[in-house]
Amino acid sequence: MEQIKYIIKERAEKIVLPEKLGFGQIFTDHVFEMDYNPKKGWHNPTIKPIDSLPMHPATSFIHYGQTIFEGMKAFKTINDEVVLFRPDVHIQRLNNSARRICMPEVDVNFVVEALKELVAIDSDWIPAKRGEALYIRPFMFGTDPALGVRPSFEYKFVIVLSPVGAYYPEGFKPVKILVQDDYVRAVRKGLGECKTAANYAASLLATEEAVRKGFTQVLWLDGVEQKYLEEVGTMNIFVTFKNEVATPNLNGSILPGVTRRSVIQILKEWNMNIVERPISIQEVISSYEKGDLLGVFGTGTAAIISSVGWLTYKDKNMTLNNGQPGELDTKLFNELTGIHRGEKEDEHGWIYKVEKKDFAVS
Ligand code: COI
Repeated sequence: MEQIKYIIKERAEKIVLPEKLGFGQIFTDHVFEMDYNPKKGWHNPTIKPIDSLPMHPATSFIHYGQTIFEGMKAFKTINDEVVLFRPDVHIQRLNNSARRICMPEVDVNFVVEALKELVAIDSDWIPAKRGEALYIRPFMFGTDPALGVRPSFEYKFVIVLSPVGAYYPEGFKPVKILVQDDYVRAVRKGLGECKTAANYAASLLATEEAVRKGFTQVLWLDGVEQKYLEEVGTMNIFVTFKNEVATPNLNGSILPGVTRRSVIQILKEWNMNIVERPISIQEVISSYEKGDLLGVFGTGTAAIISSVGWLTYKDKNMTLNNGQPGELDTKLFNELTGIHRGEKEDEHGWIYKVEKKDFAVS
């Protein structure tokens, strides 16, 4: 692979971040880009000032959705270091998504190194409070200007960075979730486990309808019987029963979350009975009625750990833990954010340090 080309812009004014960052509305000064064609493979890796992407109106991904993305985070630790959380696993997942929709894979080590360089250049944008981070959005799309339905020959890969706070408008307070059975997000053997735009497009109408009714998001049921829990719009779901913590097994239609995977490992290390298995909505309701349901929480890069305070299915309204964050959820939130912030030792090798460097301004 070629060396990265750098076009670095000097900032005229100091970066001032708003008190409430929200999610994905502010972007840093630079992006990483590279291009693919079958002859050269990935080439022209460049870090440069953020700008619009010029695009032919027939660019294939706009029409046929051949586009994938990742979401990961960089953090500022309490010792003022800059770290990434499991970037290797995210880029491996990007490659899994790429294979599923006939796109070229990237070299994981090269992209992680490029990512470290980009984050180092824009590290002044990283917010430092607990729960805040620099959200990293790598994405890839087919660029052929062609209207035939086939995989594109040429692609672009881009990484943009965005300082973020809590994903939900509630902040890190418990969210209100509607169990959705009028629409489905994905079916097994379809694209559900692939981080591609189609899954998010499929979620929009249901989420809009739920938001209009006062919910934060929807909890999807399986695409065939609408009986088993799958995932929430932007996070995986965990149910804390009296004798077990359960999460839906990865059956092909659920996104294999990196936070999900990390939480399962942490719970095992805490000697908790964590099980990956099908969970029916009826089981959740009957456990609630028996008093055996201790809580429900979601996990995701954007959401971190988010307690579900209220869960509604048809005309059944369940208030969980009096609408307060669950004990386990809070412990997990503190554990993960503690690892991100360098307050807790990184016993798992999940943290990648970003070296601070001086880059010559072009
Ligand atoms: C993430 O947690 O990174 C996600 O992918 C959610 C995103 C769609 C906002």
